[in-house]
Amino acid sequence: MTTSTLSDKGNYYLELEDKFGAHNYHPLPVVLSEGKGVYLTDVDGKKYYDFLSGYSAVNQGHCHPKIIDALTKQAQKLTLTSRAFHNNILGEYEKYITEYFGFDKVLPMNTGVEGGETAIKLARRWAYKHKGVPENKAKVIFAEGNFWGRTLAAISSSTDPSSYKDFGPFMPGFATIPYNDTAALEAALQDPNVAAFMVEPIQGEAGVVIPDEGYLVKVRELCTKYNVLFIADEIQTGLCRTGKLLACSHENVQPDILILGKALSGGTMPVAAILANDEIMLTIKPGEHGSTYGGNPLACAVAIASLQVLKDEKMAENAEAMGILLREELAKLNSPLIKTIRGKGLLNAIVIEHENPDASWDLCLALRDNGLLAKPTHGDKIRFAPPLVITKEQILACVDIIARSLKTLE
Ligand SMILES: Cc1ncc(COP(=O)(O)O)c(C=O)c1O
Repeated sequence: MTTSTLSDKGNYYLELEDKFGAHNYHPLPVVLSEGKGVYLTDVDGKKYYDFLSGYSAVNQGHCHPKIIDALTKQAQKLTLTSRAFHNNILGEYEKYITEYFGFDKVLPMNTGVEGGETAIKLARRWAYKHKGVPENKAKVIFAEGNFWGRTLAAISSSTDPSSYKDFGPFMPGFATIPYNDTAALEAALQDPNVAAFMVEPIQGEAGVVIPDEGYLVKVRELCTKYNVLFIADEIQTGLCRTGKLLACSHENVQPDILILGKALSGGTMPVAAILANDEIMLTIKPGEHGSTYGGNPLACAVAIASLQVLKDEKMAENAEAMGILLREELAKLNSPLIKTIRGKGLLNAIVIEHENPDASWDLCLALRDNGLLAKPTHGDKIRFAPPLVITKEQILACVDIIARSLKTLE
């Protein structure tokens, strides 16, 4: 694998991380110190287009002024009360977000994976209280290739050995079926103990895997038919990333439980939300679930601003238009190295074809050298997911960088 040289200053920070931090990531060698809109700047002052957006946490662009304003104003007033007491922002936020997405209630948490855990707890509880599943028998179905985080429950549903190997034993009551396979789903739903099917409308970490049109409609139909909850993990696909407010909006379906995270804070802090109607949400009673930071006033103020900015600046519409432009321009390159270009809105991936197994890493290094930051996922795939504020001129400049970088590998 090619490594490349950084400045002394860059190396200093990289070596600190290497010496004192756990080695649970393999970052691209670039050391960043500033972000604004679609741009990131490294410690030597070099500017890059951000084509990862913090794994879609920075949909609104780095340091969006309205989000930072909400953050700094609230930070000077009140940041955390815990849920032992009420605060004057939580209720306003709960009203705002439930109306925004059309659910009765929200349960606020912090990271995305906590959102997934919460959704599964809710589904299990609902299955015991409403569906009549015998105690400890509730089952949750996932799709192969899913990714919803790194907790023991999340890796228990994973089909990726790099997530689960040597971390067992695993959570019982989970099963997986192939993604984009409604016949397999219907077969799995024959088991009366199934509480929920939890699925990403587009699989992000798996490499932007898009199911057939109509998949989500069929999932909705089957879950309704078999009295099973449809949990949509929209942590990566939601909040305008795919060209609509939610990826589920492309097929006009409403899940029973919606999980949001990442861009709910525009990349400023961990904020997750689990949305559901009363029949599901009110099965959890006081003292049965929570988190010290969940629903803290700082997060609530930031989340309101982050959601408002998406709407005010028409980011779904821009993601849709810029996504089409990006894929069209990439296709025009006719590069023999690009096997596939796929995506929806600004959640895109290319699949690289090259005899060198490290080609996609090498391409990301070339992209970096030319001023664009992206990261391979699962070896041969590179996600292209810039902030949703990107303009047409910037997309064209980025495609030019991609073209020049591909040439270095041809
Ligand atoms: C679809 C999906 N769900 C859940 C998660 C986990 O979110 P977090 O890393 O905030 O725990 C991710 C993270 O990449 C994700 O892509």
